[in-house]
Amino acid sequence: MRKLSFVITLGILMSSLSVAQTVPQLKADNIDQVVKAMTLQEKAALLVGLTRGNAYFGLPTATDANSKVLVDGAAGETKDISRLGIPVTVVADGPAGLRINPTRQGESKTYYCTGFPVATLLASTWNTSLVNEVGKAMGNEVREYGVDVLLAPAMNIHRNPLCGRNFEYYSEDPFLAGNICAAMVNGVQSNGVGTSVKHFAGNNQESNRMANDARMSQRALREIYLKGFEIVVKESQPWTIMSSYNMINGTFTQESRDLLTTILRDEWGFKGIVMTDWTGKRNTAAQVHAGNDLMMPGNKTQVDDILSQVKDGNLSEADIDLCVKRMLEYIVKTPRFKGYKFSNAPDLKAHAEITRNSAAEGMILLKNENEALPLKAGQQNIALFGVTSYDFIAGGTGSGHVNKAYVIDLLQGLTNAGFGVNEQLKDLYKNYMNYQKSLSSFDKKDFWAFLSKSMIPEMTVDKKVIDGMAQSAEMAVITIGRNAGEGADRKIDNDFNLTDNERSMISNICNSFHAVGKKVVVILNIGGVIETASWKMMPDAILLAWQAGQEGGNTVADVLKGTVNPSGKLPMTFPLNYLDHPSSLNFPYDYVSNPLADFGFTMPGAQKQMRKNIDYTNYDEDIWVGYRYFNTSGKAVSYPFGYGLSYTTFAYSGAKITPSANGFVASITVKNTGKVAGKEVVEVYISAPKGKLEKPASELKAFAKTKSLAPGESETLTMSFSTYDMASFDEAASAWITDAGQYSAKFGASVEDIKASVPFTVKKENIVKANNVMVPAPGLTLLKLK
Ligand code: BGC
Repeated sequence: MRKLSFVITLGILMSSLSVAQTVPQLKADNIDQVVKAMTLQEKAALLVGLTRGNAYFGLPTATDANSKVLVDGAAGETKDISRLGIPVTVVADGPAGLRINPTRQGESKTYYCTGFPVATLLASTWNTSLVNEVGKAMGNEVREYGVDVLLAPAMNIHRNPLCGRNFEYYSEDPFLAGNICAAMVNGVQSNGVGTSVKHFAGNNQESNRMANDARMSQRALREIYLKGFEIVVKESQPWTIMSSYNMINGTFTQESRDLLTTILRDEWGFKGIVMTDWTGKRNTAAQVHAGNDLMMPGNKTQVDDILSQVKDGNLSEADIDLCVKRMLEYIVKTPRFKGYKFSNAPDLKAHAEITRNSAAEGMILLKNENEALPLKAGQQNIALFGVTSYDFIAGGTGSGHVNKAYVIDLLQGLTNAGFGVNEQLKDLYKNYMNYQKSLSSFDKKDFWAFLSKSMIPEMTVDKKVIDGMAQSAEMAVITIGRNAGEGADRKIDNDFNLTDNERSMISNICNSFHAVGKKVVVILNIGGVIETASWKMMPDAILLAWQAGQEGGNTVADVLKGTVNPSGKLPMTFPLNYLDHPSSLNFPYDYVSNPLADFGFTMPGAQKQMRKNIDYTNYDEDIWVGYRYFNTSGKAVSYPFGYGLSYTTFAYSGAKITPSANGFVASITVKNTGKVAGKEVVEVYISAPKGKLEKPASELKAFAKTKSLAPGESETLTMSFSTYDMASFDEAASAWITDAGQYSAKFGASVEDIKASVPFTVKKENIVKANNVMVPAPGLTLLKLK
């Protein structure tokens, strides 16, 4: 009897061993086998992000379901399935550096990340190899802090200056945005971690971002709003793409198979996964069917929904398997799957240096009369005005904010560079700011701190104080600051336009200082476009410093001192007036944002009202976004796209266009004709012959930046563009068409400052077929310029 039971036990043991042996453990080369071995419950769980703290999904986890998140402050995790050797992976924001919590309970160690310059500044460098270096440093922090995917870069188009997240985005031009973004993705991913290029697509306003329907022509969609993403996918294969909150032409992007499969995968060849932006439950079956592989941040109801939709026949297992397969292909690439032992100790000092240097290349000298800059060395009595001089803004708010160890303000920056400031004025500001900070409105915590855009209001400086400063100080520097971020758009008054206080501060200081022959420099510490036309004639110099990251004050001082010669150029137009932008007719600039609604919370008693520009926004301006509009219509601007001055001068010669295998090569020689070393950006705009479609007067199709040229030194830049790059989207033919005929290549220092034009011929019409998808409902009144 004893013998028999031994035999039975052995048999059970053997058979369970053989079952265990047949359960595959995930490897890079057995993904299909793992998919086959998964239960439907496991598959569904893998497609939904892991929200900690719930009795989770009814599945055993490698990590305890209620345990601490793996990386404090990371935005989310994907589900582990220990039975199959599938680990949790960790994803964290964001575009200006990794966003995790700087401290952890019960630990004295800190986990600060580098606050790099905002994306708009990086685009202003027009330097893809520099952006690639920034990406490498950022990606290193992702890897060393145990994160698998950086939820960045963000690359929505600056359709309108008031979008609250423009600082996270690159440009009004998709070609510049796409190329800078691809350089960033390649840099981050060279560390063996992933990126999530976001927000795909049409997330061009924050007001009611969860539900807004962006209604646009297929041509605007393809040429303006998707083009940058297309370039990034083709040039850098991001591991992941984040589908946006909003709808396009009536369908949520997260549920659009046309967008996520037909265009993204079939047309462009995207190989990674798509994850949703941080949404609650929507139509889960539609999301999976669309090719949205991962719902973030994840909720048990979404897993249940997938299961019941399969049961009801609304969702096929084949659709699920495809998403699961892609999820596993993503997971096997991650450091966590590979067992990487991260250090929690990236080289923050080295990265601070990269931040300081990269920021310098993206600062734009807007004005420099009578060589007001660089500053005379060693000045010890600079009158430093503006609260942001003493409290520099390194970056915007929301998920684009980075928890950095410090921010160098302009006071520190100038001091570090050997300058001195007027002590009396400094004390005045410090006292005022300490008082303001002591008010309870600045003591915001948690969620409200995340949303907070509150800045210390500008101090009113008495005219007598200004007159006194004009007598005693050597010169004046004024900083004008702006901040914005996720969840709300900016406003016209007191934001795009200066406040009355700022206006009188600039004019009083300029009047008093100029009256005694002293100079005034304005520094713009801003994340998006502001009005400049009404006051730019007053100061001697204007430096657009953007939000330059944690070393901001040092970088501004480098530029003011002339240690670095500014070489940034505008990645967007600065209009004369806000309303000059045709998109302003359809932008919710009067909307009082409701953070609860904008973050997806249901408001009790809220009424659906189908209000224009809130529930839906008609992109009636069509393709006429930014310089495409201003340059084609001939409407005057304050500063044109591509504009930026230098402390030196450049001469252009030998502009040439030569045919290549798939397009053309543009080349030009740039010579430094001034007295100091400097870099120059050359922008190549193409004008098309008259064809069937109305076209912008010219469009950016290539750009390059010289190395630092010594006085008298030259460099020949070569830039290529393909025939496909020159195409327009013909809706009638559902195709990208490059007309045959005579074109002109315009080599410019800005879109308005063309140094050389070279005619060239496209011999044969080039047609690339696309799919006729994402058609808008009737109702758009598209702007025509000719
Ligand atoms: C933002 C995303 C961000 C995500 C995770 C969302 O609210 O729109 O850009 O990546 O949160 O923090």
